[in-house]
Amino acid sequence: MPKISVDDHALEVPEGLTILQALDAVGLLMNGVEIPHYCWHPKLSIDGSCRLCQVEIEGMPKLQIACNTLVQDGMVIRTTSERVRQAREGVMELLLVNHPLDCPICDQAGECKLQDYATEYGVSESRSREPRRALKKRVDLGPTIVFDQERCILCRRCVRFCREVPGTGELGVANRGDRSVIETFPGTRLENDYSMNVADICPVGALTTKDFRFKIRVWFLEDVPGICTGCSNGCNVYLGVANNKVYRYVPRRNDAVNETWICDEGRLFYKEIETGRLRNATVRGERGAAEVAVEAAVAEAAARLRRVLDAKGPGAVGVLASPHATNEDLAVLRRLADALGVETRGVAVALGRSDARLIKAEKAANAEGARRLGFGPAAAVLDRVRQGAVEALLVLGHDALVSGDLASPEELASLGTLVLLDSHQSPLHLVAHVVVPVRVAAEKHGTLTNVAGLVQPVQPAVEPAFEAWSEGEVLWRLGALLGLPEFSGRFEPRALAAAAS
Ligand code: SF4
Ligand code: SF4
Ligand code: FES
Repeated sequence: MPKISVDDHALEVPEGLTILQALDAVGLLMNGVEIPHYCWHPKLSIDGSCRLCQVEIEGMPKLQIACNTLVQDGMVIRTTSERVRQAREGVMELLLVNHPLDCPICDQAGECKLQDYATEYGVSESRSREPRRALKKRVDLGPTIVFDQERCILCRRCVRFCREVPGTGELGVANRGDRSVIETFPGTRLENDYSMNVADICPVGALTTKDFRFKIRVWFLEDVPGICTGCSNGCNVYLGVANNKVYRYVPRRNDAVNETWICDEGRLFYKEIETGRLRNATVRGERGAAEVAVEAAVAEAAARLRRVLDAKGPGAVGVLASPHATNEDLAVLRRLADALGVETRGVAVALGRSDARLIKAEKAANAEGARRLGFGPAAAVLDRVRQGAVEALLVLGHDALVSGDLASPEELASLGTLVLLDSHQSPLHLVAHVVVPVRVAAEKHGTLTNVAGLVQPVQPAVEPAFEAWSEGEVLWRLGALLGLPEFSGRFEPRALAAAAS
């Protein structure tokens, strides 16, 4: 392990790394040691083109680029000397010669590295008398990304990303010298499962997503750490929140889960927090359906379940867990089933496309958590429904309808009692006897277990605009109304976390 010194830090770092990689590995890069950089990215190959990361190394006459200089035992590195500062100012002056400086109308303003470093190292007046390069604005690169050629600083992160991450290589550098521009190869569009990550890694406002651009200024957003619920990979994201609304997901680095990427489908999954939500509790009887308060719907569910339990026993009741519910919610469901003696239990998980990188076939964030809590395949529950052994079914979510057509709404509606706890509308909420709207992961505390068994926390980023409890709260209340002593205390989701994991 080479021992090096960086400014005031004496470090022992892994061998074979460059200075930036070594600082990144020990968690000091931009977090104690500030070395500005544009072309280097921790998850891409080294380019060494922007020259902004120059540092002074004792014993070397010239400044060296930190992104492509290997650490050696005894190296003494200075990142804050006057020489280093002058080098950064020189690089920034060159980068700004052709930049349009249109920050007031640029969507990247507020999270732009060019803006940040221009403030820190930029000169206040331009010495150039030549006109700036006039290039194309608003170039449509594909279904997800818009490109502003004038703002590009040719760091080539986007080019390397397309080659190295999705492996599709749609982007390249056309022409040479000061005529160089980023372009898609002839006949191709920037179109791959991870395309929108180029907007995150572009250090300037050259690449922006069609979905987010001009929606809101980024300084109004609060970044709330969360988990993408699009599939069982559990990619780490920040939810960009303002005015109780989620405007976007951007990747949150977690090298063990998603490195610094998310897929395009998952990135747009934030829309599910609002779209298609189930907003009203409903009780359906012979005289039709009536909207009621959540408490009244839970009371009706308890009364119906009690009648079946008293008449036929726990064998006539089944439960279907939701792979979208948190471990804490599912721990309450398990506790309820255990307390009632209900053995017919399972979980339905919708399946879809997968790839070798992040995208997983199971289209739910907590299928693994449900399995670890003892919920087996839903088919066993549905078999008993079809045998006529089940009279009352407590269903969380509507995945049974989309998991390889496991069940139809009609066959579930033919049960004597169908109680549904769901966050989104589906054919099931139109037939269930009791419907209770519940919260999504972005609206509650809890944990989700990803496909690799990693338990990750979620927290409320927004409040639902209608009355909705978490599944755990609903089930806890249901247990209390059924008179079960296991539910006599307060519902404490965090206290259930240990039991659930
Ligand atoms: S578009 Fe952005 S990421 Fe791509 S080369 Fe230009 S500045 Fe770099
Ligand atoms: S791979 Fe899965 S968890 Fe990750 S962003 Fe995509 S949908 Fe979300
Ligand atoms: S970050 Fe080192 S040369 Fe660009």
